[in-house]
Amino acid sequence: MKSEILTLLREAEGYLSGQELCTRFGVSRTAVWKAIKQLEKEGYTIEAVQNKGYRLTAIPDTLSVSELKSRLHTAWVGSDIYFYESTDSTNLQAKRLAEHKASHGTLVVAEAQTQGRGRRGRDWESPAVGNLYFTLLLRPELEPGKASMLTLIMALAVAKGLRVLTAGDALIKWPNDIVLGGKKVAGILTEMTMEADFIQHIVIGVGINVAKQEFPSALVHTATALETELQDRVPRALLLETILGFFEQEYDIFLKDGNLSGLQEEYEKFLVNRGREVRVLDPKGEFTGVARGINEQGELLVELPTGELQPIYAGEVSVRGIYGYV
Ligand code: BTN
Repeated sequence: MKSEILTLLREAEGYLSGQELCTRFGVSRTAVWKAIKQLEKEGYTIEAVQNKGYRLTAIPDTLSVSELKSRLHTAWVGSDIYFYESTDSTNLQAKRLAEHKASHGTLVVAEAQTQGRGRRGRDWESPAVGNLYFTLLLRPELEPGKASMLTLIMALAVAKGLRVLTAGDALIKWPNDIVLGGKKVAGILTEMTMEADFIQHIVIGVGINVAKQEFPSALVHTATALETELQDRVPRALLLETILGFFEQEYDIFLKDGNLSGLQEEYEKFLVNRGREVRVLDPKGEFTGVARGINEQGELLVELPTGELQPIYAGEVSVRGIYGYV
């Protein structure tokens, strides 16, 4: 009831009558009042006026389950939501929940992570400064070879979310970094658990640097935060709601097509590498070429000096701009 009251308060033009809430939920005035008090405890400022009712006057920048539940309009993404003030890693936690039968679409969110993980075994510093760390658990009936496409789908959702909510030009550095002002503002780590030849589950973890913060010296020149690049502060719950909405839409398109053909064109519009010279760091040997776009499998198409288009699979390879990060 708490998150439903929150939805109604947020959507109400003026005051929401206490009596109406009682009738709607079939509960006493005291029960409504208790729910309102709980919301106040979570940081919401709610004005109560006799004979008028309740009005929401301030929303905290919280990622609580009630805040997220009251916002999400998705069909299955975020069907279950877990929020932690601190956890080791939302990816690890999502995997543990998956072992305990958590369902497709379960969302795990944390305010801080003590063992945040990045790609290639790197750490993802995750202080409680007001960033966004979340993981979506999927149980797709998919060939394992297609799992990496989900990372691109999430990258597109994050970039679109940022474009819709901010004045910044969020771009994607293939396959899965989100770039703002030429620096990385978000990263995605997709991990798959298999049984025999089947995907048991997939976790897609997203870290977005929202708040202004100091980065470790190794990252100072390549990392940034939304607040550093933009004037406005983006409410995190709104950002998450928007990203997950886009993800669900894109996922449906992907399932229908069985590949990225329906999203390829849109993804390419966000591709920071497009038309740029890139260095491909392949364990089998480095080479350079011009990034032209992606194919239906989500591979980066790099034009070699011979004119040949070489598809690059995301797995082992990393791509850098010829003069730096992008
Ligand atoms: C990268 O660019 O290296 C990927 C970073 C992914 C970080 C996110 S934060 C939420 C989720 N939990 C983790 O431990 N990692 C991902």
